[in-house]
Amino acid sequence: MRSACEEFWFRMVGRKSSGGGELNKAKRWGGQAMQVAIVTGSAGLVGAETARFYLAQGWRVAGIDNDLRAWFFGAEASTRWQRERLEADFEAYDHFDVDIRERKAVEDVFLRYGSDVKLVVHTAAQPSHDWAASDPEADFTVNANGTLMMLEATRRHAPEATFIFTSTNKVYGDTPNRLPLVEQETRWELDPSHPYARHGIDETMSIDQSKHSLFGASKVAADVLAQEYGRYFGMKVGIFRGGCLTGPGHSGTRLHGFLSYLMKCAISGREYVIYGYKGKQVRDNIHSHDLVRAFDAFHQAPRPGEVYNIGGSRFSNCSMKEAIGLCEQIVGKKMNVRYVEDNRIGDHIWWISSVEKFKSHYPEWRLTYDVPRILGEIYEAGRHTT
Ligand SMILES: NC(=O)c1ccc[n+]([C@@H]2O[C@H](COP(=O)([O-])OP(=O)(O)OC[C@H]3O[C@@H](n4cnc5c(N)ncnc54)[C@H](O)[C@@H]3O)[C@@H](O)[C@H]2O)c1
Repeated sequence: MRSACEEFWFRMVGRKSSGGGELNKAKRWGGQAMQVAIVTGSAGLVGAETARFYLAQGWRVAGIDNDLRAWFFGAEASTRWQRERLEADFEAYDHFDVDIRERKAVEDVFLRYGSDVKLVVHTAAQPSHDWAASDPEADFTVNANGTLMMLEATRRHAPEATFIFTSTNKVYGDTPNRLPLVEQETRWELDPSHPYARHGIDETMSIDQSKHSLFGASKVAADVLAQEYGRYFGMKVGIFRGGCLTGPGHSGTRLHGFLSYLMKCAISGREYVIYGYKGKQVRDNIHSHDLVRAFDAFHQAPRPGEVYNIGGSRFSNCSMKEAIGLCEQIVGKKMNVRYVEDNRIGDHIWWISSVEKFKSHYPEWRLTYDVPRILGEIYEAGRHTT
């Protein structure tokens, strides 16, 4: 029997990146020599979207994912259903049940495809701010050592490949909480006279001397390492510091996957707990499809060692209160919400990413999903199963 997460995705067969036409095209390419993308975390939200994007364009994709997400967060968060879906849909998808910390196993994947490897998209991670403190060693070895493993394997075996690293806005720690905020009826907002007010927070913000959480610290280590492989070794490495990444492909759970988990609670009536800030904390949200299009723009014209904030920006953002209101509207019933005064340690009060730097380097790229559209899609995927 499929879990709710599995059903989520099985109902999304008609979506662009897994649609029938593209599927057939991918199958026709099976067995021929082609460009290869190695995608870590290939059954996760971003990894699976990346795999589908390139498979649909006739690439071969080597996916590395050992479903560690189920170990982090429990069975509800397992991404095994995505792996099975990819294997069923695409002959050109090869799955490797490998831990990115295992050097030999990772190297074997590179050796298998040799110089056909043109792109490495590294999304495997322990992704939760809160979970990290429960096992700092696991968090650090997956996020920091695992990234080193992937960078080194690429340098040794596919030095010409583009390398995409999925970093996070948590590298800025809680510095955003020092911004001058004003309280509005449904959200915190940045003082309109502040330079970040128009477009959001850009890459000039310091990543130093703030409270990062253990997760932020392991991601900083990986982020700076990835920059060096671009700047020091001249490899085509791009670093994408995400705001909230989202979409129906997320195996949302309490500790990770904001909108996906919120909608699950809205549909099922399960209690949703808001932690502090009067529920007016603001996040920008980018659909994984828009994100992967940004990766591809970078791959077409890589700029070694560049760092980009990437998120929904002013185009796609919401406060917790606003997101709850939208879910209630879409589902047609009140949510079961409990408020607790204590905020999560180091949690951002207001985060909106400026994507202006990325847009100036890649002017053809634009966001296509705003929050209502994202939530509508998550609802459609989950309403019969959650
Ligand atoms: N989702 C967000 O809101 C968000 C925000 C900012 C940054 N990010 C970053 O983006 C990346 C992708 O996030 P996501 O939401 O797709 O995460 P996800 O948890 O949905 O996917 C990650 C996948 O990696 C796998 N994985 C974890 N550790 C592994 C290991 N050691 N070896 C092999 N596979 C392993 C997991 O099983 C999972 O399927 C992560 O690096 C995350 O830190 C995510």
